Amino acid sequence: MHHVEIIGTGSYVPERILTNHHLTEMVNTSDRWIIERTGIRERRIAGEEETNVTMGQIALERAIKNAGIEREEIEFLVVGTNTTEPVWPSASGYIANLLGLRKNLSFLDVQAGCTGFNYALFVGEMSVKAGQYRTVAVIGTDKLSAITDYEDRNTCVLFGDGAGAVILRKSAEDGIIRSHLGGNARARDLLILAKKNGNGQGVIWMEGPKVYAFAKRVMVESCLRVLDPEGTAGKEKLRALFGQVTKIVPHQANARIILSAAEELESRLELSPGEVRNKMILTIEKYGNNSTASIPLALDESLRNGKLKKGDLIIMVGFGAGLTYAANLVRL
Ligand code: ACO
Repeated sequence: MHHVEIIGTGSYVPERILTNHHLTEMVNTSDRWIIERTGIRERRIAGEEETNVTMGQIALERAIKNAGIEREEIEFLVVGTNTTEPVWPSASGYIANLLGLRKNLSFLDVQAGCTGFNYALFVGEMSVKAGQYRTVAVIGTDKLSAITDYEDRNTCVLFGDGAGAVILRKSAEDGIIRSHLGGNARARDLLILAKKNGNGQGVIWMEGPKVYAFAKRVMVESCLRVLDPEGTAGKEKLRALFGQVTKIVPHQANARIILSAAEELESRLELSPGEVRNKMILTIEKYGNNSTASIPLALDESLRNGKLKKGDLIIMVGFGAGLTYAANLVRL
């Protein structure tokens, strides 16, 4: 197997900010409830002309620039997304066209709920490791505002829009070490698109507390399995492996989910209080949950503001509709 590394990142969020205060004028909620229960203060909302495609295009353009490559070098484009309208042909094809990527490009969309970026990264990772390509682009982009019911306080406070992208390249040493993918298709009805009043476009509907419990459990499981794929390491070994991890970049769905998963890991591995918590990268306060964009956006922003740097060992861990979950272990 060949090695593959991330050589550039980019992201994009729309200009328009929807604050908790704005939401109190739309549904029966409060700034305090939203902050205490979710950690969110504001989220970005795409303009009418903006789509998952246009946001993904900008994020990829920035990643190409950051990687210092020519766009013609990209041989394969993988896009994690859930909000393509119309649903086909793929968002990846639109993005390739808009950016003028090479004519014989291979491209596809991956739909795995909010885990879409982690799954897409695995597809990109494997295509290089298998020797098929040298340079691959992976995007996570979603316009959740298009499928959010702004009359439902249970969901509308959570979601926002955005995009993030990474460029992968065949390398001499390990960058993306491995990925662990998981799912529970039997729980698919916990998080779905439901037709409001039986008609019109589908809007996000979920059993919040059940998704919360699932998310906390699978975040812990994914972090452990990506470090120990066979599941055979004892506590001592896991503690040592975990000690090498610099930061965790989790899907930003709810700050409480992230922090309670951190506490669970601390307790399972008998680590000191705060040892995992302090490794968690949190951007949810500013962006809410923007689905497949949340992890690559947090990655790009953290590399820019110095929270992450080259050489760091990170776990990117996500969960979402399907239900699905996944983690990627990466040396930056
Ligand atoms: N403002 C005020 N009150 C609210 C609001 C709101 N925005 N939303 C719900 N409430 C009320 C409920 O009606 C309920 O009231 P009741 O007790 O009178 O019935 C009360 O608050 C408690 O509701 P719970 O659902 O128990 O609140 P909880 O603490 O579980 O928080 C939340 C709800 C934030 C939705 C949480 O369950 C959660 O984050 N779940 C996971 C959601 C998620 O991550 N989904 C997406 C994953 S995949 C993807 O990213 C698309």
